[in-house]
Amino acid sequence: MTLEEKVNMIHASSSFTSGGVPRLGIPEMVTSDGPHGVRLEHGRGWNAQKGVLDSGTYLPTGICLASTWNPALGFAFGSVLGSEANFRGKDVILGPGINIMRSPLNGRNFEYLSEDPYLVSKMVVGYIKGVQAQGISACVKHFAGNNQETNRGSIDVQMSERALMEIYLPGFKAAIQEGGVYTLMGSYNKFRGQWATQNNYLINQILKKEWGFKGAVISDWGAVHSTAQAIWNGTDLEMGTDLDMGPHPNYGKFFLGDTVVTLVKTGKMPVSLVDDKVRRLLYVMYKANMLGGGKRMKGEYNTAAHQATAQKVAEEGIVLLKNEDKILPLKSDVKSIAVIGYNADRKQAMGGGSSQVKAFFEVTPLQGLQNIAGKKVKITYTKGYNIARGAGADADMIKQAVQAASKADVAVIVGGWTHGYDYNVWSDNAYDTEGFDKTDMQMPFGQNELIKAVLAANPRTVVVLMGGGPIDVTQWVSDAKGIIQAWYPGMEGGNALAKIIFGQVNPSGKLPVSFPKKLEDAPAIKLGQYPGDGVTVNYFDDIYVGYRYFDTYKVEPQFAFGYGLSYTTFKYSDLHVQTGDKTATVTFKIKNTGAVAGAEVAQLYVKQEKLNLPRPEKELKGFDKVFLQAGEEKTVTLTLNEDAFKYFNDIKNQWEMDSGVFDFIVGSSSRDIKLTGTGTL
Ligand code: BGC
Repeated sequence: MTLEEKVNMIHASSSFTSGGVPRLGIPEMVTSDGPHGVRLEHGRGWNAQKGVLDSGTYLPTGICLASTWNPALGFAFGSVLGSEANFRGKDVILGPGINIMRSPLNGRNFEYLSEDPYLVSKMVVGYIKGVQAQGISACVKHFAGNNQETNRGSIDVQMSERALMEIYLPGFKAAIQEGGVYTLMGSYNKFRGQWATQNNYLINQILKKEWGFKGAVISDWGAVHSTAQAIWNGTDLEMGTDLDMGPHPNYGKFFLGDTVVTLVKTGKMPVSLVDDKVRRLLYVMYKANMLGGGKRMKGEYNTAAHQATAQKVAEEGIVLLKNEDKILPLKSDVKSIAVIGYNADRKQAMGGGSSQVKAFFEVTPLQGLQNIAGKKVKITYTKGYNIARGAGADADMIKQAVQAASKADVAVIVGGWTHGYDYNVWSDNAYDTEGFDKTDMQMPFGQNELIKAVLAANPRTVVVLMGGGPIDVTQWVSDAKGIIQAWYPGMEGGNALAKIIFGQVNPSGKLPVSFPKKLEDAPAIKLGQYPGDGVTVNYFDDIYVGYRYFDTYKVEPQFAFGYGLSYTTFKYSDLHVQTGDKTATVTFKIKNTGAVAGAEVAQLYVKQEKLNLPRPEKELKGFDKVFLQAGEEKTVTLTLNEDAFKYFNDIKNQWEMDSGVFDFIVGSSSRDIKLTGTGTL
């Protein structure tokens, strides 16, 4: 290859492709967002294309996938993406997004998985393997420290080495070493003073040297800022769009463009650095069967099987948060339902920024309830509130909702966050979206007033929350008998939700993120800085992210990490802990003691009794989702290796395991502990 040909490969050739080498039959590499569906077609620029088949499967978003606590569904999810990517002629899917949910306000939490690195690690591997089994490259993102959208393009993230090792990196390490991901995307922010996408420590030192990553590092779109740093620090492909370049952009002007040719030719840069990048890109191309004679799979689009996966993930990911007096599932005495709330009939697929999907169809909660209720149950619908910037409570809409609720047997309010209201105006896409964090945790659009009024009118009210994470429910949580967290549940979400409400599906989702009562209780705000001073954000909250904070500092969350109810009950018994030198095997029994089949996510937390350095109260190190018929009992076996007991000693700058006594804590959530045993290692 000539130098020019090589350099042509290390930068974009259009908004979503990298340059190829026609002379040698090396094609462009076609990338596409995103984490929960193959993005609509933008052609070579950014204009949505007309007359193309680009409305596909819209899967539940990442937070809903993680709520299933079912790694097998991660694989199924990835398989759908890989298959549809093949059909659409894509080579790389720009997902999964796995940044740790540090602040409840992060606009992209809906795309991400969890606050807990172990749960992230378990879910990400299946996702990646699912995508790549279809011969498509996954692209794990955003590496690293992109935990907020506020000032994402400039903020300098400062955190301790221990927080980096214990909290923010394990998901990426698992993606590389266990998932075998072919590509990784660097993030927009700075990390310890240097842009993350061209960061020597993160990319050269940790990712490539320590972890042995063989694939290619793709920049986030427009995240490269300097030729020299990108070349020397391990960025392999510069993506982005320079909108100033007009309709015929000259991608040679990119940092990894013509300048590189000049620098190599004038002896200022060794060609070996360019060769390494090209070799990595070719490696991805071979793996994705773009070169080397490997056969590309044809892929499938909008199949019933893909839609069934979307529905299954929603059914297992939706979380039942409260069920007083067994208000759910609805019984046959319910003859009328007042469905209330804008989100009940709102389509969400096209919101949120780069992860937007043109859905082949999207069943809203209202449609789902109508589908299942059939003719036997009368359903009325009223919006209850308006989605508009700054909109507060609307007295007339509340009045209508109250009237409807008081006339019906049951009211179902569907509210919470949303992706905004005007998809054409980037900044208006303001809740759960790329580019913007939420400004607070309060329910927008006067929903508190609405919910309180409806609860007063009809105590048989179920509140369904949509959105990408915690919302402040303190004004009405003790009065509402039924609360469901539905996230953004994908194209079949309305059907999945309705099946749960009517009891055709027994809920089994568990929260992958703690819900603080108040924003002030969130550790990023209480102990750390968020969103920083505009220049720097210091993660003084350190390793105390999520339940690690709530448990250690003894702060009561609204809903704990790992929490979620079922329509049946489970009994845990017979805990046995068998320890080796550096390993442990934990067994216990779970019995379904209720009348219906269900699934329980049994969680294993570990705590060392005597500590050399401060550590969280306990940490998740194992879990198993156990499916049980009514009356059925199973034995769960969880095996822990050395990693479960290690911590990062940042005085010595190394991972360590101290011998001693460990507690093995088995819970139905991080706060609902069923069994505890000890063992010496
Ligand atoms: C986002 C990425 C996305 C890329 C391409 C960026 O703005 O941060 O997550 O993959 O755009 O759409």
